[in-house]
This record gives sequence, structure tokens and C-alpha cells, in this order.
Amino acid sequence: MNVLSVSSSTAFPARSGRRRRLPPSRLPPTPSPSPPPFPSVVSAVKTVEKTLEPQIKKDPAAGTSTGPRKVADDHRNTTRPPTIARPKPASLRPRKPPSLMATVCNDLEELIHTFIDPPVLRPSVDPRRVLSNNFAPVDELPPTPCPVVRGAIPRCLAGGAYIRNGPNPQHLPRGPHHLFDGDGMLHSLLLPASGDGTDPAVLCSRYVHTYKYLLERNAGAPVFPSVFSGFHGFAGLARGAVTAARVLTGQMNPMEGAGLANTSLVFFGDRLYALGESDLPYAVRVSPEDGEIFTLGRCDFDGRLFMGMTAHPKKDPSTGELFAFRYGPVPPFLTYFRFDAEGNKAGPDVPIFSVQQPSFLHDFAVTGRYAVFPDLQIVMKPMDMVLGGGAPVGSDNSKVPRIGVLPRYATSEAEMRWFEVPGFNPVHAVNAWEEEGDLVLVAPNVLSVEHALERMELVHSSMEMVRIDLEGSGAVSRTPLSAANLDFGVIHPGYLGRRNRYAYLGVGDPMPKISGVVKLDFESAGHGDCVVARRHFGRGCFGGEPVFVPKSEREEEEEDEGYLVSYVHDEVRAESRFVVMDAQSPELDIVAEVLLPRRVPYGFHGLFVSKEELRSQRQS
Ligand SMILES: [Fe+2]
Repeated sequence: MNVLSVSSSTAFPARSGRRRRLPPSRLPPTPSPSPPPFPSVVSAVKTVEKTLEPQIKKDPAAGTSTGPRKVADDHRNTTRPPTIARPKPASLRPRKPPSLMATVCNDLEELIHTFIDPPVLRPSVDPRRVLSNNFAPVDELPPTPCPVVRGAIPRCLAGGAYIRNGPNPQHLPRGPHHLFDGDGMLHSLLLPASGDGTDPAVLCSRYVHTYKYLLERNAGAPVFPSVFSGFHGFAGLARGAVTAARVLTGQMNPMEGAGLANTSLVFFGDRLYALGESDLPYAVRVSPEDGEIFTLGRCDFDGRLFMGMTAHPKKDPSTGELFAFRYGPVPPFLTYFRFDAEGNKAGPDVPIFSVQQPSFLHDFAVTGRYAVFPDLQIVMKPMDMVLGGGAPVGSDNSKVPRIGVLPRYATSEAEMRWFEVPGFNPVHAVNAWEEEGDLVLVAPNVLSVEHALERMELVHSSMEMVRIDLEGSGAVSRTPLSAANLDFGVIHPGYLGRRNRYAYLGVGDPMPKISGVVKLDFESAGHGDCVVARRHFGRGCFGGEPVFVPKSEREEEEEDEGYLVSYVHDEVRAESRFVVMDAQSPELDIVAEVLLPRRVPYGFHGLFVSKEELRSQRQS
């Protein structure tokens, strides 16, 4: 496998250890009807710009540096294909005064932000609101011990790491900013491996070193356009022209990737990846010794993976295979592919030409025999931006949502079947399985699809079970599982693709803030609300997606024998904690808590990586 390393001798580690930290009282306030002047909000949490000095980061696990030379050295001791260090792009050289063309482009963008599309006219993408409170970005944090302040870390978590991905813009946005537009930052908590479970844990927060991150770090300012907020109406066209000028004059190279790697993580083939669906996966590594996080590079899997990959691939727990897809605005709008258990891309790409309109396809599901794709009413409409001054992504009320079912080892879409499910718009999937000739999909259905991207606080997602008579008439039936506003659902990872009983979801209050966790029992489907356990984090406390960690891998254990983990932030006390909840208790009792040395911003998806997985990670 090739790792297209973006680390180079000029890709200097951040000097976060020496940077000024602000006390919690300096966090920006919750937005008010009259928000403060734009620069004061984000600048309160973004400290002075880094100066770029060459540094060699030590990786205690390897006992040597982790720069590109280290990557090359590692391959002398392995039979795996050598890592390919790509030629250093001009745009990644040490910072120097901006060129004339860069200055012209910067000035043009400033004019657009100021006179054509000022953020104040669109509150949903006004950085003063989007980046307020615990959505405000933080600096990087080197590995820092933090105490267990309640209970003890359960044995199944010992020595492992909980890692949460999320957006954390590196620079003050000069124009409109959507929550999805922030650079990916990983917040990893390495849990104590020995003792009685009360030894300190270690928190580390690091940016994923994407091409965009490194380019803008060296430039000292944003260079890439904001995908979810910048392309709107005439201003979007103008920003597109400036971006084209930057590409043509060599200020940026989109072939190096434009992604943020800010959405999720996956561990497979002995490697950990940070994912964002608009780009290739970025390989990262968490040291099992001291908890430090390293970016290894952007991966194209020996040149076999192109453009991007979903942030929600599905790992078969019995075979170790990974199933995934990419989508985009040009045909084929959907392409399906898979990887073998060793982490190599396997089989051909399967273009799905029966998807005839570019749609927002964030997640999917797999069963023992099938891959299951939702085709939503959230669609891409680039011509609306060109002709009507609208947004390039929006809802299409005339479209009937569908579910597509494709054999999971298909080499073409010849056997793909589509089933219309009016009003069913699941942005995320929780699980799917086959049962007595039916295909069952469990997912939160976005009821207010017109608000799905622009006004997330107005979104209500309702859990449903959809059953398709796959081997019979093709009839579709739907069963509501709960009326609560639920999303970020997880299950016991050993049950992915097969019938399971329990799911755990975050309670939107409002989305994307998560005020608690509920446990659903699918055996109650059709008999009212399926919530059988719940935990409210408390007044002013908000968490995120719960991650389920089984007590052990033994088959004879109950499906819900295990723990739910999440970061929870207390907005009243201005402190963040890592909480461990007993998934079998009726109130999801907290059995352990770690007090974190500073707040962890709200984010997206997380992953628990076991001690054994951490130790099995490849060095490059
Ligand atoms: Fe997601």
C-alpha cells in the first residue's frame, strides 16, 4: 500500500506545547442577538500564529523521528511495499512573503467576503455563531496526563484509546463558515493499561496533517474555499474564479487533495485512518506508549483509490473486510468498492449509473450478502448556484427517496434493485441484516430534510425500522422505533451486518448538540417507543456520539454487556470529561470519569482502538 506522504522536511510539527493557553473564562460566549465584532470571537481562542521552525518529532514507540526520513527508514525492516514520499509541492515550502498573485487573490476574496457575501447576512454560516461556545476551536495539546476522578477504567478499555474526530479550523475564517468546513483534529485519550484502573489517562489533540492544513499553515491564512458555505449564488461563482486563479498560478494543487479529514476514523489492516468523504483516507498513528498522534500520509492504496471515500465504511466483524463507496457531482454519481482484511483494495470499482442525480450520500449499510444505499432528497444542484443564486446542495421535494440493494461482492450494478420509500431520508445508518427473506434497515430518518445542512438545529431525526420483502413481492414496510430526536447511532461492532437487538443513540437538543444517550431495544418494535434506558448528561452538559465497547469478544456474552464512552462538556463549569457508562444498567450508570485538562470541542464521530490494535499498528 502506498502512503502518499504529505509530511516533508518543511511540514513542521506544531509548537503547541509552547503556545499560550487560555483559561476557560476566555471561551467565546453563547451568541446573543447582537454578536460581538467578528474578529474578537475566534481570536479569543486562536492564539498568535505559529512561527515555522524546523523540529523533529520523537516517536517513543519507534525511538526515532517521525519525519519523512523515518518513514523511509522503517521500510528497511519490513517486507511491505515502500512508502512513496511524493515530490515536495512548491506550496509546501517554508513560508515566505506571498507572491503578487497570492496577494491579488487574497484581496479579491476579502472584497467578496466584505461586499458581496458578508457572513452577517447568512447567520447559519456566520463564524461568530458557528464557532461559539464549545464549537470554538482549540490549540493542539501534547500528551497530557489527566486523572480518573470517579470509579475505575474497566478492564476491556485498559491500554486502549478513545479517539474522536471533529472540525477545528486552523485559521480565523474570513468569510462564511459552516461547521463541516473546519480542519480535522483528533482528540485521543490513551487509557491506563495496568494497575487498578485509576492511573492517569493521557489526552492528546492534534490536527490531521492534510495537504490543506499544511498548505494553509505555511501560508499563514486560509487558501482553500469553504465547500459547505462559500459556494452560494454570485459570490460562489466569484470565489470559484479566485480558486481557479490560485490553481493556475501554482498556489495550490487540487491533485494533492482538498479534504479536511474531519469526520470519523476507522481501523483496519493494522492501520488507523482519519476520514472525510471529500478526500482519500489519511493514515494516522497513536503511540501506545505516550499517546502522541502522528499523521503518516494520504493513502491511495497503490494507486487504486481515487478522489474520495465515505467517512462511514463498514468493517465486517467476521471477515475483517471493509466495504465503502464514494459519491460526487459528476457521473458516476456513486461508486462502490471494498478492501480485503489485510487492508488492500480488492475487486473492481463498481460504478452505479442507476443513480441519475448527484445526491448527498453520507452513509450506507452492509449485510451478510448485500450493500444497502439510501438515495435521499438531499441533492447537489450546482446549476442553482449558477442560474438562481442559490446553494449547490439542497433538498428536492419532487424526488422520491429510494433504497438500493446490491450484492456486496458485485462487479457491476446488473443485479442492483431499487425500492422506493417515500419520506425516508436517513443521513446515517445504524445497522442492516437479512431475516426470513427480508432485508431490514435500522436508521434515523431526517424529518425536516430541507434543514439538513443549513439549519441543523431545526433537524429532527426519528428512528425507524424499514423492512423490504427482498425475496418476495418487494413490498416495503416501516416501523417507528422512537419519536425522540436521535442520531449518531452505534451498536456492538460484532453485530454489524447481522440481526441485533440493541442500539445506542445521541439525543439532539437541538442537533448537533447531544444532551444524553438512549438505548433502544429492537424487540419492542411495533409496540411503542423502543427506548429502554437513558442518561441525561445534566444541565448545560453535552456530549457526542456514544461508542460501544464490548466487555470481551466471547460469543456467549449478552449483546449489551459492555460500556458506552464519550466526551462530555459542562458549559456551566467550563470543563470536559471522558465518561464511561454501563450499557446494561437502566440509567446507563457512569462507572468511570476522567477529568480532562482542558475542554474538547463538540465534534463528529469517534472510535475505540483496543490495546492490541494500538500495538499492531504499522509504523508507516
Ligand atoms: Fe456521519
